[in-house]
Amino acid sequence: MVHNGIEYGDMQLIAETYDLFNRAMGLPSQEIHEIFTEWNRGELESFLIKITGEILVKIDEDSGRSLVDVILDEAKQKGTGKWTSQNALDLGAPIPTINAAVEARILSDYKEERVTASKILPGPKPHFKGDRKSTIQNLQDALYASKICSYAQGFVLLKLASMEYRYEMDLSEIARIWRGGCIIQARFLEGIRAAFNRSRDLPNLLLDPKLGEAVGQRHGALRQIVKLAIEHGIPTPGFSSALAYYDGYRSARLPTNLTQAQRDYFGAHTYRRIDKDGTFHTEWKDMNKGPES
Ligand code: 3PG
Repeated sequence: MVHNGIEYGDMQLIAETYDLFNRAMGLPSQEIHEIFTEWNRGELESFLIKITGEILVKIDEDSGRSLVDVILDEAKQKGTGKWTSQNALDLGAPIPTINAAVEARILSDYKEERVTASKILPGPKPHFKGDRKSTIQNLQDALYASKICSYAQGFVLLKLASMEYRYEMDLSEIARIWRGGCIIQARFLEGIRAAFNRSRDLPNLLLDPKLGEAVGQRHGALRQIVKLAIEHGIPTPGFSSALAYYDGYRSARLPTNLTQAQRDYFGAHTYRRIDKDGTFHTEWKDMNKGPES
């Protein structure tokens, strides 16, 4: 199930890459095919990158057009991605990129409403005038960095499930098996396997020196790509959530101190402090001042 959740994430990230090439940059399918074929010779080598390259040059016999261009843009699902999200919520594992992929498929199903909305709701029109070569390189780096963030999420879920249900899973072995033959089989699973061999109790792949460094070297490219997508009105929930996960995970302090204060204000749910032990509650409202809510 978690394999399929990760697979959903990979597919969404690849679809967003295709969308940026296609709608933002206006590249023809043949050129996108060549880029994916080239990428499949390097660090992104994987089954899904390979078949994406092949899909892009398939011609539809009926229309003579590129087949992918005549396929209806409503993604279906058998449910394994949704189960991954449901289980992650139950186990308290943040998997935003996988959730984003599941929800992107659900949103895609609202075709009729999207067509209506496309005629009413304003937004930027794709107008790419940037440097093609560096943008293609940024996309490659952004895809690689986002994949690591997404796999990090999936492996945390596996780890939590293993602890909760006493599965005693060997995460290094799982990476090896997935590398051997499945939909997500990807070259960089070897890096994941090595990471768990270096540290069997690794809490998160982003804390592995090599994988962490790989994302650290590419987060700038990922930011450029999210910026590009926002500027051109192209939805990239996969890339955006991977970046937010990275930034959230590397934040020593998050704004959830405010969330705790709000919870204590309206529900007396208490909070903990950074400077002393214990659980605290404050009477937030000064009864003598301020309007009654
Ligand atoms: C499959 O089994 O075909 C895929 O792994 C997942 O299927 P889905 O995209 O229909 O959920």
